[in-house]
Amino acid sequence: MNSEEAAALRDKYLIRGIVPRDPLVIDRASGLHIYDLEGNRYTDLFSGISTNNLGHCHPDVVRAVAEQAGRFMHVSGYYTHPREVELAKSLVDLLPRSLCKVFFCNSGTEAVDGAVKLAKKTAVVEGRQGSTVIALKGSFHGRLSLTLTLTGQRKYKARLGNYANYPGVVHAPCPYHYRYGGGLSEDEFGLRCADEVAEIIDHYASGDVAAVLVEPILGEGGIIVPPDTYLPRLEKICSERGVPLVVDEVQTGFGRTGKIFASEHWGLKPDLMAMAKALGAGLPLGAIAVSERVDRALEPGDHFNTFMGNPVSCAAALAGIRVLTRDRLHENAARQGASMIKHLREAMDEIPFMGDVRGRGLMVGVELVWDERTKKPAPELADRAKAEMRRRGYLIGVGGIYKNVLRIQPPLIITEEVAQEAVENLVESIKESAKI
Ligand SMILES: Cc1ncc(COP(=O)(O)O)c(C=O)c1O
Repeated sequence: MNSEEAAALRDKYLIRGIVPRDPLVIDRASGLHIYDLEGNRYTDLFSGISTNNLGHCHPDVVRAVAEQAGRFMHVSGYYTHPREVELAKSLVDLLPRSLCKVFFCNSGTEAVDGAVKLAKKTAVVEGRQGSTVIALKGSFHGRLSLTLTLTGQRKYKARLGNYANYPGVVHAPCPYHYRYGGGLSEDEFGLRCADEVAEIIDHYASGDVAAVLVEPILGEGGIIVPPDTYLPRLEKICSERGVPLVVDEVQTGFGRTGKIFASEHWGLKPDLMAMAKALGAGLPLGAIAVSERVDRALEPGDHFNTFMGNPVSCAAALAGIRVLTRDRLHENAARQGASMIKHLREAMDEIPFMGDVRGRGLMVGVELVWDERTKKPAPELADRAKAEMRRRGYLIGVGGIYKNVLRIQPPLIITEEVAQEAVENLVESIKESAKI
């Protein structure tokens, strides 16, 4: 089969509603590279949406998967198996100390939905109603009913009737200083945004609040790093009111931001955490981690699913965590990310269309604008720069509330040499697209 034949079958048999696909038809991948059916090689700077943190087909993961697949692949959540409990222990050892137990599911959407369910159960067992959940404007948490409602971006929910209108969800301000800072310093703006959540809890929400849900760095929203004052203040506001803080680390987890979990940058002690993407080291796996308080509220039978703790996914995840911690890939992410951001910031002087460069570790965003002063979003320029990067043999992502943020989220094994070449190509691609 060649790429043209694969594309014809795709258009005939896969539903139209999938996001527009890149023309690339993939044959194989290894380390930092993806090869198409015609043998062309691409450097992967997007990691299957922030997922292939160890690069493609890491030999330790391939070995663990093959070994487990030959032993047994599925038994259902009714039975215990060694990989599941070993993984649970390894994960708890890495998590913020407030989190002591985990539940394994299959995706980020399931992890966030399940985390909110467990927060609501906790509220009810503790004698509250738990009718309201606060999420952020600009956030992304998934595309099924509850998670789509929680997602604070209209572009994902248009024309779906009331599907994305799960009751009791309220959206709080997005800590997006570049756009909404309004002349405040970053620190002041961070405090202001957190205080708005306190206002909602105390004065605006129609019922008591079961949970406040945040991505520590908003990924799909455009790699929005909140001011350093924001999350600590938010955590204090929640804890003073007894409201569980739920952290969505689906995209930020497992070394991506330079720490194993982004929550560590601010020393957070959440009551619940959702994880997925890089957890499965390339296989589908999600997890919900809970505090003792939440675990205490649960009764046997509260949560379950057929594929929970899938043995092959757990074996991959276990091997993945061993590689991540043994090779200290989060430290490489911190180093390479900082140097990419530094070089991209230097290019801002010569390219007025680069409105903002931001990120932590290897979660890097370049926000493109038509005008430095008005900050008019430039989604057309972002699409052109992405296509130009592809022509040069690099795969990047585009995201953002206004679809104008280039997303650079390569595997954490990236070397200095590849990272610098990638940045040079990115700068040239933006120039080329803007005809500078
Ligand atoms: C922060 C965050 N939460 C949840 C999700 C949903 O995860 P999944 O696509 O695995 O269902 C995503 C996916 O991009 C995400 O970035």
